[in-house]
Amino acid sequence: MTARFAPRRLTFIAASAAAFARGVVAACAAGLVLGACTRHEGGAVDDARFFERHWADPLAAQGPLPAGLSALEASLAPQACGQCHAQQWQQWQTSLHARAVGPGLLWQLHLMDQAQANRCLRCHAPLAEQKALLAQAMAWPARPAASAPSYVPQDLAQQGLVCAACHVRGHRRIGPVPRGARAGATTAGAHGGFVATPAFSDSRLCAHCHQFPDDGPRTAGKLNEDTYEQWKASPFAAQRSCQDCHMPDRRHLWRGIHDPETTRSAIDVTLHVQRTAPGGYLAAAVVRNVGAGHHFPTYMVPKVELQFARVAADGSRTPLGTQVIGWSVDTELRHETADTRIPAGASRRFELAFDAPTPAGWQLELRIVVRPDEHYERTFAQSLAQGERLPPAALAPLRAAFEHSRSTAYELMRLSQAPRIAN
Ligand code: HEC
Ligand code: HEC
Ligand code: HEC
Ligand code: HEC
Ligand code: HEC
Repeated sequence: MTARFAPRRLTFIAASAAAFARGVVAACAAGLVLGACTRHEGGAVDDARFFERHWADPLAAQGPLPAGLSALEASLAPQACGQCHAQQWQQWQTSLHARAVGPGLLWQLHLMDQAQANRCLRCHAPLAEQKALLAQAMAWPARPAASAPSYVPQDLAQQGLVCAACHVRGHRRIGPVPRGARAGATTAGAHGGFVATPAFSDSRLCAHCHQFPDDGPRTAGKLNEDTYEQWKASPFAAQRSCQDCHMPDRRHLWRGIHDPETTRSAIDVTLHVQRTAPGGYLAAAVVRNVGAGHHFPTYMVPKVELQFARVAADGSRTPLGTQVIGWSVDTELRHETADTRIPAGASRRFELAFDAPTPAGWQLELRIVVRPDEHYERTFAQSLAQGERLPPAALAPLRAAFEHSRSTAYELMRLSQAPRIAN
């Protein structure tokens, strides 16, 4: 991962690139491949249709390479970008975007045909060049015969949501308006300049992948992925974009619920416990979403557990019960059992009645545990239990994905409170 990128000599041969693209386009015409069926149009980027063009589904292949670029400038490899944009590259490598093609996606690709897979890849590895490489790796019938052009590294698909997936169209580099500058095309610097657009600082840039369309899959009437619309309806919409919170100072980290510090900034928690009857108590935790610009958590996968316990003076702990913040849905995505997510700016009260000795001498403890991949833990476990029905090639990545989904849980915070004894 950290090996220095050795700039290749300029070995680009127009004919081989055309054949790589043609393989995809021919398959496209035959209706077999969703990749590379449209062409990217140039023109003004700051109109409302920017997002539609930038995230055309499917994305077009980059096309013929403009003259005059060195191999390093032409390359779509993140390592190549990283030679000149070291900071973004270092940060991106630690992000989940760099892991968007991991075992959790890969085992499922073995159960799909190419058209189904490309529907996933639109968000997980959206470039036409990535889809072509995966088609070759999976030996799908409509894979291109030609080998990839020189500016496409062999591992471009495995690298997930690469720099180029967001920043490169038709070999042109597109980015935000440089700080203190105006929008438009520049010819300064490397790779024949770049196009600067305010669209990169707009939440709609993220919506392509973090928002299902209105006719997308729903459970109990609710879109399975609805982050952009939750944000738009929230008080944050007028103040802070997705980028403001997830890319502060334009950092390429995209920390979310997998990161304790980010998740801590999302909520404010108060804990009370009072006696309601002789020997009877009521615990109440009030959780307010003060820092997530969408529901906390935004969709069905993560669960946040509120684990209540009574801790005696000698330190011994008696578990009292657990309440869950999240959208709980069965593994078939047909029924919801609960939806206790907390919209941005709102709060929710979680109560628990329990018996305990009086007079007190004990404390109520609230431990908040985050399971960022809870829904996948259940889904993958169920698939593993039926492992003999799966293609053998799917098993190793499925096991890895299951182990990983369990490993991401962490304790977010711990509060304790002595009971209030009213007379
Ligand atoms: C040989 C060095 C070099 C390589 C390789 C390179 N860039 Fe650049 N890039 C530059 C320079 C220089 C600029 C202009 C920077 C400036 O004006 O501040 C630039 C500008 C940009 C911008 C515009 C930044 C803004 O403020 O909007 C983006 C986006 C960008 N590059 C993305 C990429 C991506 C993605 C890759 C890899 C696919 C890449 N670059 C590869 C040198 C390079
Ligand atoms: C998920 C999409 C996405 C990916 C992947 C991505 N970027 Fe960016 N990049 C952005 C956005 C959005 C901004 C502008 C953020 C803003 O305006 O607040 C940006 C800004 C930049 C800038 C301008 C930084 C500045 O300080 O002005 C450069 C350069 C850049 N990206 C290079 C890269 C490189 C190199 C990679 C890969 C290592 C990469 N990006 C991966 C979305 C992406
Ligand atoms: C509209 C964009 C979109 C589409 C289409 C999509 N995903 Fe995802 N996927 C995402 C986003 C965004 C996340 C991360 C959400 C988060 O962490 O909150 C994700 C996360 C995942 C994860 C968990 C993370 C990991 O890499 O293990 C798996 C597994 C996954 N998707 C598989 C699939 C499969 C299989 C398909 C096709 C059936 C698919 N996705 C289609 C956007 C998409
Ligand atoms: C006001 C700051 C803020 C804004 C605005 C914001 N987020 Fe978040 N986001 C957070 C925090 C904090 C978390 C961690 C807690 C959580 O998961 O809700 C988070 C979590 C996430 C997650 C992790 C998955 C999950 O289930 O919660 C994704 C994906 C995400 N945000 C995407 C987005 C997108 C896309 C936008 C814009 C439409 C956006 N966020 C706007 C603060 C913000
Ligand atoms: C091309 C599709 C795509 C685009 C565009 C995109 N994302 Fe993502 N994002 C994903 C996928 C896929 C994942 C999950 C990767 C994984 O875990 O395998 C993800 C993960 C995340 C996470 C990590 C959430 C967690 O569970 O901790 C955050 C935060 C996030 N994205 C924010 C953003 C923001 C902000 C933008 C806009 C600047 C953006 N994304 C643009 C596809 C995309």
